[in-house]
Formats: sequence, structure tokens, C-alpha cells
Amino acid sequence: MLVRVLGSAAGGGLPQWNCNCRICALARAGNGRVSARTQSSAAVSSDGKRWVVLNASPDLRQQINDNPPLHPANGSRHSPIHAAVLTNADVDHVAGLLTMRERQPFAIYATTRVLAVLAANPIFAVLDQSLVPRRELPLEREVALCGADGTPLGLQAQAFAVAGKVALYLEDPSKGPGFGTQAGDTIGLAIRETGKPERFCYVPGCAAVDERLVQRLGGAELVLFDGTLFHDDEMLAGGTGAKTGRRMGHISIDGPVGSLVALSGVALGRRVFTHINNTNPILIEDSPERAAVEAAGWQVAHDGQEFQV
Ligand code: MLT
Ligand code: MN
Ligand code: ZN
Repeated sequence: MLVRVLGSAAGGGLPQWNCNCRICALARAGNGRVSARTQSSAAVSSDGKRWVVLNASPDLRQQINDNPPLHPANGSRHSPIHAAVLTNADVDHVAGLLTMRERQPFAIYATTRVLAVLAANPIFAVLDQSLVPRRELPLEREVALCGADGTPLGLQAQAFAVAGKVALYLEDPSKGPGFGTQAGDTIGLAIRETGKPERFCYVPGCAAVDERLVQRLGGAELVLFDGTLFHDDEMLAGGTGAKTGRRMGHISIDGPVGSLVALSGVALGRRVFTHINNTNPILIEDSPERAAVEAAGWQVAHDGQEFQV
């Protein structure tokens, strides 16, 4: 199984269009200390020919152009992308579906909660459902991912609910501290090649690591995990936002309840931070924070990075 990071940044990307924070400025400077990154997405394939995108980022068009395995290869209209699996309904994970119009068959997999968000927004009708079927991804039960015509793609996916938050634009303050969040609004994925035991877990959004998640990730060959913020309050401290990571539904890396500590005792083949916000100092190649996560055995994802599982 091949796993390719299409976009390793959180929503907004790096640099973000309206951000002049230290890290966005370094990315624009192009001096090698910070590499530009596109918004959160990965692609997975059992054969290197047929690919499944995990989330459809607003940068999908650029990501396809930047990743030759995703280029059309046969005839005048073709795409190696046979399915898209969504882990939530955030803008950075669904807006790229609009790039995938043009009457190209592929299948969309998402939970009932996320499918309901797509159904409620008529702009997604640009994807004709006779060509682009929408399929429910059940929680817990492993399913064989298939293309639009039902052909198995050689990949099994199991969705599991993780702590998180309903999409920002659907937050309802009248519904209490969770803003109306329900199970299935944010999921992680465990993916393996059909007939093989090795697991790749994809968890680009996660608010907390609990015992259940620790059990679930344990033994995975590869985990790409939510690396949005290093410090829970780094957006406040840097003057780029008013919210903590906790308020945004993202566990931070550092601190006593951070992911570095929470996952430290979990046996994982490779552990990689992705969905990294442009305020996160691990993005700076020569920062102490980058050195700290690497010393703890983590990699910092970059666009175009490929893994074999
Ligand atoms: C997030 O990960 O918190 C979201 O992508 C935020 C957003 O939708 O801008
Ligand atoms: Mn996001
Ligand atoms: Zn910035």
C-alpha cells in the first residue's frame, strides 16, 4: 500500500492568504527554513494506479498537478482517483469536491453526519450522483473501498469516531459546549490493503487522545496524526486568532495532555504529524520544537511525502 501526503497544512495552508505571522513570512521568504504546504489531504493506493483521496482540500487541483501518480493517464478524460473518503465536513476537507466536477466518476465515502452536510448544500449537486455515488461509511465496521462502478480498489477502511467538533460553519452555540457536535462529525480511518494485516491510520483532526484511541492506533505501521498546534494557546499568543486548540477541536502537541505525551507509550511503526497550522513552530526546520518532536520519534509531514506500508 502506498500513502502519499498531498497536503500537510491545516485549513488556510502555508502561507495563508491573509497571514503575516512569523512562519507564513518565512514560507514566503523561501530561504529553506519553512516549506510552503497545501491544505490537509492524503492519497492511498493498493497498486500505485488507482488512488483514493482522504479528504478533498481546496488545494486539490494544485495537489493533483504536483503529484504525477494522480495525473490523467488513459484517453482524453481519465483520473486515477476512484474514491474520496471524508473525515469531517470542514472546509479544508470538502471544498475540493467542487474541483472534482467535470463528469468524472468516483465514489464519495463519509459518515451519515457528513453526508447530511453535503446533502443540505445544493452546490455539491454539481457532482451528479449517477456518476458520483455517495456511500455511507459506517462507524467501526470495515468496508471494502470501491470505485463508482463497484470495482474493489484493494483497500479496506474502518472508520472510528474521535473526539472532535462539528464543522466551524455549523457550530450552534444554543446547543451547549459541544456546539451540536455528534459522533461521526469527526472520524479517524484505519486502512489496510485487502488481505494484509498492516494498518495505516489517518487522524487529521482529533480533540483528545483517550484510552480507546490508544488501543486503536497501537501496532499501526503508520499513523498520520493531527499536528495542528504545538501550544494550545499559540494563536492567541501570536495574535493570529482568538481560539485555543481545544476550542477548535484539536489536541495540541505539547503539554501534559498533548499528543506527544499521550501517544508516547503506543507502539507505532512510523508516527507523523500532519494538518499542521501555519502558527506551529515545528514547521521551522531549525526550531527547538521541531527538534523536540523528532527526538520523540515523530516526523513532520511535507507535501509529496510518500510512505510504503
Ligand atoms: C479545522 O481544522 O479546525 C478547520 O479546518 C477550521 C476551518 O474550517 O477553517
Ligand atoms: Mn482543518
Ligand atoms: Zn501564518
